[in-house]
Amino acid sequence: MIMNDKANIKVGNENYEFELIIGSEDEVAIDISSLRTKTNIITIDPGFKNTGACKSAITFLDGEKGILRYRGYSIEELAEKANFLEVAYLLIFGDLPNQKKLDKFLYDIKENSIVDEDLKKILESFPKSAHPMGVLSSLTSALVSFNPSVLDIESKKEIYDAIVKLLAKLPIIVSWVYRKGKGLPLDYGDYSLGYVENITKMMFNRPNKEYIQNDTIVSTINKLLILHADHEQNCSTSTVRIVGSSHAGLFASISAGISALWGRLHGGANQAVIEMLEAIEKDGGDTKKFMAKAKDKTDPFRLMGFGHRVYKNFDPRAKIIKVAADEVLKELGISDPILEIAKGLEKEALADSYFVDRKLYPNVDFYSGIIYKALEIPNQMFTVMFALGRLPGWISQWKEMRENKEPISRPRQIYVGERHRAFLDLDLR
Ligand code: SDX
Repeated sequence: MIMNDKANIKVGNENYEFELIIGSEDEVAIDISSLRTKTNIITIDPGFKNTGACKSAITFLDGEKGILRYRGYSIEELAEKANFLEVAYLLIFGDLPNQKKLDKFLYDIKENSIVDEDLKKILESFPKSAHPMGVLSSLTSALVSFNPSVLDIESKKEIYDAIVKLLAKLPIIVSWVYRKGKGLPLDYGDYSLGYVENITKMMFNRPNKEYIQNDTIVSTINKLLILHADHEQNCSTSTVRIVGSSHAGLFASISAGISALWGRLHGGANQAVIEMLEAIEKDGGDTKKFMAKAKDKTDPFRLMGFGHRVYKNFDPRAKIIKVAADEVLKELGISDPILEIAKGLEKEALADSYFVDRKLYPNVDFYSGIIYKALEIPNQMFTVMFALGRLPGWISQWKEMRENKEPISRPRQIYVGERHRAFLDLDLR
């Protein structure tokens, strides 16, 4: 516990004092919001590895101990006992809903679960080869044109209405992107179903046969969506908060978050993991060769699904997904050799000093693709499923940023370019 609640920074002969902020889990930060005013000096921290962007009451994670909690509830309990809509409510409004509140939330979402048919024309204009994340980000932004009331939202009611609209419409768009990739007619699912049940039906319903709900698939999708629902100030969530801080609307902010998640170092890693595992399988399954590539600094190859900016211990989500992968493949009667390759890689990495010294463990993306593959979801759709899970987290973080009336995000820099110089006429250059 920090005894003295002040920090002293000495620059030259000057000593400056700053407040310490101590969080509810005893995390400590130096409040440098007055630094430049006091010293005319700024800090610099590429990738923000040591810099907090905000105070938040939504998600707590302890990277050293491998702890993840949403509003104080452990990810292990939520993944085991909750349904995704409850978790969405918890993240966005701060508490688990009672039955009455949950029913009203689902009703309000269902009442908004229609997407303007003209959006299909935009979807149809994309080439079949278009990456689903680019389509999803575009259609999410396009949704504003069909819902102008969400453009400039300030009041509690306006924000609530925009939230339920987005929770209603994004799953429909996700299912349309998935079905377009498979050449299937677009589907609206079934108003009478629960939230995850309807997502599953919208995706897996086939026009030529009766849809029979597979409870294993529904509970697996439910668990994966919960595990992806929020993760404090990661790259895409920070993007949502930064875009939202300019008072761009909720839909535009989420569209930006989807684009940030697409990157292979972030949410795009789940697709990259499967492509890596399939390449290892195709190459004869020689994991040692790929481990050597991952450690070779001259080789750009990285062991995708390994390492994390915050977790320097097991990602608790990876532990849960690894168990679920075994269970789901068994229940669906699928044996996929790449699951064994993944387990072999994990075992070798955790015994290898390169990975141990750098505290590189499997992260959320390492096993998730194996489950999506077993559900016959195409590789390029894996990050779309990540975005579907992360939606309530992004919404909750955007809402918190706006409710806290945070200032527009505008970082400083240290200029290292040319000093002042006179213009040179063309004939003199
Ligand atoms: C997600 O932030 C979040 O919360 C994200 C997320 C969420 O829920 O929102 O958890 C989701 O994005 C998970 C991460 C998915 N990305 C991957 O699996 C891609 C592979 N992993 C990495 O590229 C990397 O580990 C990052 C991007 C995840 C973290 O990068 P950092 O924190 O910037 O660490 P770094 O790149 O500085 O690596 C430190 C060292 C380096 O070696 P040295 O320079 O010390 O010799 O570890 C090495 C790196 O070369 N390293 C790896 C490695 N990851 C790090 N070496 C081989 N393979 C890897 N995967």
